[in-house]
Amino acid sequence: MTIQFHDETFRDDYTFHNSPEGIRRFPFPFDQDSYMYSVNLEPHAGGKAGSPFEKRFDVDEHYVAEMRDRAITLAEDPLRCQSLPHMELAGWDFLELVMVSKSEDYPELFMLNRDGDRWHWINRPLGIEQRFTFLDATTLPCGPMEYITRQTQGDHALLDQRDGNLWMDAGMVTSQADWSLDFDIGMNFFEWHAPVPKAHELGVFQRALKFLLNLQQGAPSRRLNWTMTVNPRLDTSPENYHKWGPEKRTVAPGNVGAKQYLRVELQTLWRLPRSNAIAFPIRCYLCSLEDLVTVPKWGRRLHRVLRDLPDELAEYKGFAVNRPVILDYLAPFDDGAPTSPGI
Ligand code: HEM
Repeated sequence: MTIQFHDETFRDDYTFHNSPEGIRRFPFPFDQDSYMYSVNLEPHAGGKAGSPFEKRFDVDEHYVAEMRDRAITLAEDPLRCQSLPHMELAGWDFLELVMVSKSEDYPELFMLNRDGDRWHWINRPLGIEQRFTFLDATTLPCGPMEYITRQTQGDHALLDQRDGNLWMDAGMVTSQADWSLDFDIGMNFFEWHAPVPKAHELGVFQRALKFLLNLQQGAPSRRLNWTMTVNPRLDTSPENYHKWGPEKRTVAPGNVGAKQYLRVELQTLWRLPRSNAIAFPIRCYLCSLEDLVTVPKWGRRLHRVLRDLPDELAEYKGFAVNRPVILDYLAPFDDGAPTSPGI
């Protein structure tokens, strides 16, 4: 399969778009007509051919443009990438995981040759060729986590495990749903999850942490999360709220189908070998409402989920202000027919 990389933007003129194939492979996250937080973890052990679940690190038509967008955000705000000094080994672990996975899963795009600790990496879509010494940071243009996450779609957190908890001690975060690495750096699992409504009472975080502390190398897990974004913007950070927050007020009945996006995060969890850290890539997929409703069962179900979602979740996810106009748009696509469980 040859991927046609789009020349597109995620800011200013927003030329981002999904191809018909991109819409078909969108990871629609709802397996029933309603939604509540749960510990929705499953093994990340492949998936349907062509789906975002098939490969270890999905590369799609937005790859090159997303990496360009990341570089712009980093140039404006270097604190989107941070690694506390004890996390360098985890950075190398993660670099190895990504390079090995991508070169095996996409041999036409990425190549890795290893001769002892002398490595040779080629990234064809981004035009990068690098020879370096594994575990010697002086042989890379930047730290190992920054180096590889500038070439890997999605945000990435590296969690140190100690004292029966996980600590967000490193990350590359430029396409986040309204949270800040600079604010969360050094926090533990319960601290960075503190703003999430309802889930604490449901015991979701206690159970999730217990599972994660026992995560085994070679047995990665995954889950989906979702929110809503106005315009196909990757950088919906608190740091830049003044840029994207006011755009929420531009949604109207005539443009909601094109402007309102469902934002889905494919989150994977990997135990790393040398550092015993956990890598947490958060891969963002965007799809406009007008593209989503081209799949009748998605339009029908999304209407029901958004209509019945508790107010606290709509507020937290930031779309309460536009919920009425979104529902008016989606209602004609819901014929009231019963749906069956599953996506
Ligand atoms: C939200 C990080 C794993 C469930 C969040 C937020 C962050 C985060 C930064 C945003 C909080 C805010 O509003 O400031 C992480 C990291 C993880 C992790 C680094 C890796 C260990 C999990 C797992 C679960 C989970 C395993 C499983 C239940 C949630 C939920 C939300 C959330 C339900 C609210 C999302 C929404 O409604 O949009 N997480 N998380 N997280 N997280 Fe996690």
